Amino acid sequence: MSEKKLYSYTALFNTPDEIIHAVEKVSEKGYKNYDVNTPYPVHGMDGAMKLPPSKLGYIALVLGLSGMMAGLLMTYWMSAIDYPINIGGKPIFSFPAYIPIIFEITVLFAAVGTVLAMLLFFFKLPNNSHPLHGTNYMKAVSSDKFGISIQVDDKLFVKEEVINLFKELGSTEINPVYYDEVEINYKNKIFEPKFIMFLVVAFILTSGATYVTLNKLMFMVPFDWMSNQEKVIPQSKSMFYSDGFGMRTPVEGTIARGHIPYPYKGDLEAASAMPNPLLPTKENMKLGQQKYDTFCSLCHGYHGEGDSRLRGQFPNPPSLHSEKVRNWSDGSIYHVIMEGQNIMPAYSSQLTNDEKWAVILHLRALQRSLNAKETDLQ
Ligand code: HEC
Repeated sequence: MSEKKLYSYTALFNTPDEIIHAVEKVSEKGYKNYDVNTPYPVHGMDGAMKLPPSKLGYIALVLGLSGMMAGLLMTYWMSAIDYPINIGGKPIFSFPAYIPIIFEITVLFAAVGTVLAMLLFFFKLPNNSHPLHGTNYMKAVSSDKFGISIQVDDKLFVKEEVINLFKELGSTEINPVYYDEVEINYKNKIFEPKFIMFLVVAFILTSGATYVTLNKLMFMVPFDWMSNQEKVIPQSKSMFYSDGFGMRTPVEGTIARGHIPYPYKGDLEAASAMPNPLLPTKENMKLGQQKYDTFCSLCHGYHGEGDSRLRGQFPNPPSLHSEKVRNWSDGSIYHVIMEGQNIMPAYSSQLTNDEKWAVILHLRALQRSLNAKETDLQ
């Protein structure tokens, strides 16, 4: 057996008030290398021990800042160098869009790094031995006692003085703590071959089980009932058809449900014969105005005079009050909404059938407002 060395003198107290009082006295005397152990956090202990603010905050700051730099570099490299994509004409490196990512990486680095720093630098992992471990003192303070331990390596440590101080303070139990130097300094306890072997075996077992479950088991009968279904998945193969394509072109002459094809494709002449099925009721007029204002007025102007609001970003259309459009049938205007005209795009999918006809009713009202006949005024 190797020789035991004195680590500290410990004293136990019964109440939180006693320990606070004792700690105040100990720190008043000028002891520095001592520690306090209590079964639960005792309010005001930091103040009594005169602990300086933790240095962990600085570590968190440095880690957070490096996380921020890493996030910045990562987003910059990804979106400006490795895979630049033009999104709606925005700059390739559009900083505001990357703030959430940079923020998250900052928090990630700071949080994970701070915990690791705490474990490695402050708790001295992987060395997990401490002279107080396994002592009766530790058992007592883990249960219902409040303890203080003044270390021998404190500059002011004199055995008799410390014992007397503890007695004065009314401690119920004063004990020395000895330690085995070899055992304490056996630094890499965690990296013992046995433990490493355990880690390796655990790693192989868990990753092997995960691999088998996700890559093999899930595709075995009967566990594959969710992934193998008798249906066609878009863009995938299908053994049902002889050519192996899952996606089929529609059978010629068929029409998709709810979709009636426009019969006058490219034929203004034939379309012009279509009558407007809507009556100019109050509701229809209102619907027409609303849809016209939303879908047409940006180019044609609220009154159809061709006064576009697009400031020259799209060529201004001609006035809808022209002789030509006034004399057009409703069917012809319908045809322009369906198919567009020259540079005007089609609005067939933006408006329902009734909405298109209602827009035409509104257009007629606009035309009449600028070209009223005498009979309109009577
Ligand atoms: C993106 C702008 C834009 C929008 C939105 C737009 N138009 Fe047009 N429209 C034009 C332009 C430009 C022309 C002229 C096209 C050409 O050069 O023949 C035009 C032409 C027309 C014409 C024929 C005029 C003529 O004298 O030949 C009609 C009718 C018409 N639009 C109706 C509408 C209706 C109804 C809507 C709303 C459903 C609408 N437009 C939405 C830009 C637009």
